[in-house]
Amino acid sequence: MCGIVGAIAQRNVTNILITGLKRLEYRGYDSAGVALLDDNGITRVRRQGKVAGLEDAAHEQSVTGFTGIAHTRWATHGKPSEANAHPHMSGGDLALVHNGIIENFQALKDELEAAGYHFQSQTDTEVIVHLVHQALDQGLALFDAVSAVAKKLEGAYALGVIHASEPHKLIAVRSGSPLVIGLGIDENYIASDQLALLPVTNRFIFLEEGDQAEITVDGIRIVDASGVAAERSIHEFDGTHEDAEKGEYRHYMQKEIFEQPAAIQKTLEERIDSPETLINAFGEKAPAIFDQVKTVQIVACGTSYHAGMVARYWLEDIAGIPCQVEVASEFRYRNHVVPEGTLFVTISQSGETADTLAALRDTASPNYVGRLAICNVDSSSLVRESELVFLTKAGPEIGVASTKAFTTQLTGLLILVLALGRRKGLADSEIEKVLAELRQLPNLIEQASALDKPIESLSEAFVEKHHTLFLGRGVQYPVALEGALKLKEISYIHAEAYPAGELKHGPLALVDSEMPVVAVAPNDELLEKLKSNLQEVRARGGELFVFADKNAHVKESEGVRVLNMPAVPETIAPIVYTVPLQLLSYHVAVLRGTDVDQPRNLAKSVTVE
Ligand code: G6P
Repeated sequence: MCGIVGAIAQRNVTNILITGLKRLEYRGYDSAGVALLDDNGITRVRRQGKVAGLEDAAHEQSVTGFTGIAHTRWATHGKPSEANAHPHMSGGDLALVHNGIIENFQALKDELEAAGYHFQSQTDTEVIVHLVHQALDQGLALFDAVSAVAKKLEGAYALGVIHASEPHKLIAVRSGSPLVIGLGIDENYIASDQLALLPVTNRFIFLEEGDQAEITVDGIRIVDASGVAAERSIHEFDGTHEDAEKGEYRHYMQKEIFEQPAAIQKTLEERIDSPETLINAFGEKAPAIFDQVKTVQIVACGTSYHAGMVARYWLEDIAGIPCQVEVASEFRYRNHVVPEGTLFVTISQSGETADTLAALRDTASPNYVGRLAICNVDSSSLVRESELVFLTKAGPEIGVASTKAFTTQLTGLLILVLALGRRKGLADSEIEKVLAELRQLPNLIEQASALDKPIESLSEAFVEKHHTLFLGRGVQYPVALEGALKLKEISYIHAEAYPAGELKHGPLALVDSEMPVVAVAPNDELLEKLKSNLQEVRARGGELFVFADKNAHVKESEGVRVLNMPAVPETIAPIVYTVPLQLLSYHVAVLRGTDVDQPRNLAKSVTVE
């Protein structure tokens, strides 16, 4: 939620900031702003709407500066507007950007108002900039003023601060929201995500929780949460910045759907050589921890939660290990009984989702034998705070609607099921059977992606509709949930998913010719039952769109359209059947003319509650 960029150089940094913001738009895109500092002081430009609008305004006004901070916003306190856009200022010579939420902002605001400060916005952030101003007035230098203010803040924040009287310094703080420092040659930067800075550097320092940094053109000084000088190591990014660009594709989401065979291949590489080596993918501590596992608790949000739901079917069915799955925002706020020998598993593309992180931080019970993160970002908080890690190798995912992150998470989860299952006595012959299926996976995903054209033609039937129903049974039920989530996220068509057996307990009342019903129908042991459910839909005039392979023997007829899928082994079917559902949502959204990569009101990285 919200993206920050900052830069300090001996040249104009406007373009570095604007380019960085564009690459962070996945974090929020309702308003944006920049504050630039040169020998004449600070100039600020803000605009409601996307970064492109800010870019035009900044160029029209020819704003320049050698030090600057910038922000793209996802509104929490106060509606999207120019007045609420960051940077916020106090006294005309102090500017600040913030990502996160200040929980005690009202009490701080009351104190500041009593002290004579006038607020220009409805944001929680504005209290921070006035508090820093107040501390400067009391004689503190900028670095010390920010430290003093940080002690008063409750909640989550990453901050970038500049002040006209110390023009060659950029102050950054990280507490609960991500922040990275980028190292250039005679210039340095900050950003919420290293992706923002890849056009200018591939060398990064990841700040730890509570760290505060003073950044100049030729130096970085960091102190930790207790105010003691700290050394943080430098990491080199090993991809190219084209990895995060659209290339020949019309949308990031489209590119990311078609990258799935390669992303899955990368996620599998060196991990599925043999049953004995599967465990290596989870880190050195895995053998000792896995031996103690009696049950698994999975916690995640959004699409990652759906991956967890699929894993539950696999864990219980293949490995015989009991498993619970819960959305993080519920899990973290209820008392739960932790069975002895529980492995706590988080799933997250970003590794920064606030609720998932909070759930992880609340796993003190001795009944947890270990914490495993299945994550796409190795520098993320989730990875750093978990003793076991499985890195999905999806590469940067920019589209807000998650695609390749989901299918690589499923791939990782299936490896987990086999690795854990082996410790519990699952026969190597059984494991080899699933490994052979996994080896076919990139190719089967390729075949499913090749159905793009027929899916595009199916999508026309959805464009004018207001509601849709997705049905699946067993392990395909979470796949149906994911299909419905994709459609609602990017096309704004109301979509619900049901386990097909529940149809007659309510949703059948909604079915008529205006309600397309999508059925995920691989040739598995529940197929015949699903077919009966589909008859119930057809008998009520519902139009059916069935995704099935030839062996399922579902025939096209009036009101029944069939997408012919490749024949897929049962275990990996949920991964393969996800792809046509992604493509369906993509094409419906394109036909409806919505903003596919940045759907309204959403953001990719939800770093606030
Ligand atoms: C947001 C994104 C989803 C994502 C969810 C969880 O809602 O739009 O695509 O599934 O957050 O994010 P995570 O990074 O934890 O997987």
